[in-house]
Amino acid sequence: MNSELLELAESIAVQAGEFALAQRRAGHTATHTKTNELDVVTQVDRDTEAMVLSMIQQARPHDSIMGEEGSNVQGTSGITWVVDPIDGTVNFLYDNGQWAVSLGIVEGDPHPGTWNQLAGVVFNPTAKEVFRATADGPAELNGREIRANLDTPLSHALVATGFAYERKKSEWQARALASVIPEIRDLRRMGAASLDLCSVASGRLDAYYEIGIKPWDYAAGSLIAARAGATLGGLAGAPYGEDMMLAAGGELFHQLEHVLMDYFGPDQPTWPHQ
Ligand code: IPD
Repeated sequence: MNSELLELAESIAVQAGEFALAQRRAGHTATHTKTNELDVVTQVDRDTEAMVLSMIQQARPHDSIMGEEGSNVQGTSGITWVVDPIDGTVNFLYDNGQWAVSLGIVEGDPHPGTWNQLAGVVFNPTAKEVFRATADGPAELNGREIRANLDTPLSHALVATGFAYERKKSEWQARALASVIPEIRDLRRMGAASLDLCSVASGRLDAYYEIGIKPWDYAAGSLIAARAGATLGGLAGAPYGEDMMLAAGGELFHQLEHVLMDYFGPDQPTWPHQ
């Protein structure tokens, strides 16, 4: 069943991604704000989510759907589609090609720690790259198996992260980063969590961490990275989630965890609230 879900998810992600790309090329960039003036959503995000929702409902009318832009369909099958129609919205807005459609399919309560991930697809329409995996198959990029880097020491690691849209939170994240940068090879902030996780899966990055990301940002990419051999988790044995998503291959996971514990560990001040 997982491979049938995967084929369906790929077909939906590719159609939705091509639609969004055509809209972007036609110059459609109308935006609305969400939690604050920097947290934006484009009309294309909303239209793409509506398109994804209708394709899922047509093919699988009994599944649940949880989408970044508000979709909340309660089905009866026990399966939930976790949808980010455009992950990397700010890149989309600026016509920077690092954005993707992300579709994760899970069983059970749709949150990390309780969900059972079945399949995931992340499609970057600009690069024409499909990253995908099922729970029992390899991670793939355009049909070729991909593997995470497993032997990079911390001092040679290329690491990505991201920042919250709220300034108090991003300031706090930036302070922590000041202590991470001198320990590693270099840092990237590419702006789409799903693609950061797929970059760990394909060895384009050694590691990725971020605080504050939501299930639709990682429902697909986390499965793809795990199936490529990366270790994923929170800090101090916690499952990954909004408190921390850390993905890295081999010992690097623990080396980076050790550095991050000084700022984000259980004994440190909590995520600042506005
Ligand atoms: C965002 C991106 C970004 C990450 C943010 C996410 P969105 O998702 O994944 O890289 O740093 O935390 O909210 O808003 O573009 O779908």
